[in-house]
Amino acid sequence: EVDTNTGTALEKDGEAAGEERLPALTVVIPARNEQENITALLERLAPALVPLRAEILFVDDSDDDTTAVIECAAVLSPVPVRWIHRSLAERSGGLGSAVLAGASAACSEWVLVMDADLQHPPEAAVRLAATALRHDVDIVIGTRYAGTGSTGEGLAAPGRSLVSSWSNRLVKAAFPRRLATVTDPMSGLFAFRRSTVDLRRMQPRGFKVLLELLLRNPSARVAELAYVFEPRHAGQTKASLRQGATFLRQVVRLRRQRLVGQLRSGTPTGRERLRQAWRMLAFGLVGTTGILVNTGALWGLAHLLGLHNLVAAAFATQASTLWNWALVEVLVYRGRGSGSAAGRGVRFLLMNNALMLLRLPFIALLMRADLGVYSANALTLVALFALRFLLSDRVIYAA
Ligand code: GDD
Ligand code: MN
Repeated sequence: EVDTNTGTALEKDGEAAGEERLPALTVVIPARNEQENITALLERLAPALVPLRAEILFVDDSDDDTTAVIECAAVLSPVPVRWIHRSLAERSGGLGSAVLAGASAACSEWVLVMDADLQHPPEAAVRLAATALRHDVDIVIGTRYAGTGSTGEGLAAPGRSLVSSWSNRLVKAAFPRRLATVTDPMSGLFAFRRSTVDLRRMQPRGFKVLLELLLRNPSARVAELAYVFEPRHAGQTKASLRQGATFLRQVVRLRRQRLVGQLRSGTPTGRERLRQAWRMLAFGLVGTTGILVNTGALWGLAHLLGLHNLVAAAFATQASTLWNWALVEVLVYRGRGSGSAAGRGVRFLLMNNALMLLRLPFIALLMRADLGVYSANALTLVALFALRFLLSDRVIYAA
């Protein structure tokens, strides 16, 4: 049977052309100079996608032979493989704009995004795709930070896992409500339903696409699936210090837009504001006893032991910090926050020592202005109260 208008053959059962034969899911794979990875990736990925009625779409920004490798490997693939080769001008938008270009060119209801370097095991991506297609959710995130997930050997390069876990903390601190149930908001492996997110709202300047997606679509229903982040199959990472800076700018921009309501997320409820006010009060009371401990220790060290004032102030900080941490842990947060109590204690110490470096010159200055060492010390402690509370409440004890 032939549709006379378009000349295309119809299914035997006479079902309307279109819809049913379009893919259900598009796997968008950004690739920049990944020539040694494409073939291995397609060998593991494409056959597993057949039962899901999926297509593969490369967004290629390469200067090496990736382009040719994609076009050849596509011939052997059992699922459709498409590609977009971007012009030099388009490439300047980097990874984020590549993902958006791919998502906009998809014809399916679902888009799954994954890396080309096999750090996202194709088997995990397929599991994620199947989960997405089966469930009534809008965004499915592959997570390395929950359940059986892990960063495995994937972040073994020096400093990478530290950077990853601290940027994770940072964004969770900046957006505590939206990200409360999200364990890996910067994952590069995720899927989303195109009809429930608004791609036009995205700003391709950032390269953490998932983070923007979550924040700009606050009512999207989110699920997570664990996976293990593998080492790169071949080639080199494109992560750089510059991208780190781009990421920080992206967080600041999103945060600012959130404040003025441009992200369409709700404002904190009255009850949450009240709870935070209580915590601040309790934190302040604990801090007041801490200042007494600090002053006592300072007196002991400087007056009784005869240590230099600033050295004594530095040691006194350790004593009052431990005191404050123990009380805050038990009275204010009662085990809230990630990791162990000892881990939070170490972060608390780090924070107060960093702030102490800030305080010491001011203590010296105030003493030049004829203030006694005890008053100068206490004054700098009080002055930094709000900062200490915010760092504790939003970072160290982030819910
Ligand atoms: N088209 C295009 N254009 N692709 C790019 C570009 C670009 O400018 N930059 C990177 N890619 C592709 C790479 O070819 C690879 O397929 C994927 O994006 C990830 O790039 P990597 O250089 O391997 O980044 P990574 O492994 O450091 O970062 C991954 O993990 C992070 C979390 O640890 C990515 O998945 C990040 O999105 C993720 O946040
Ligand atoms: Mn990678």
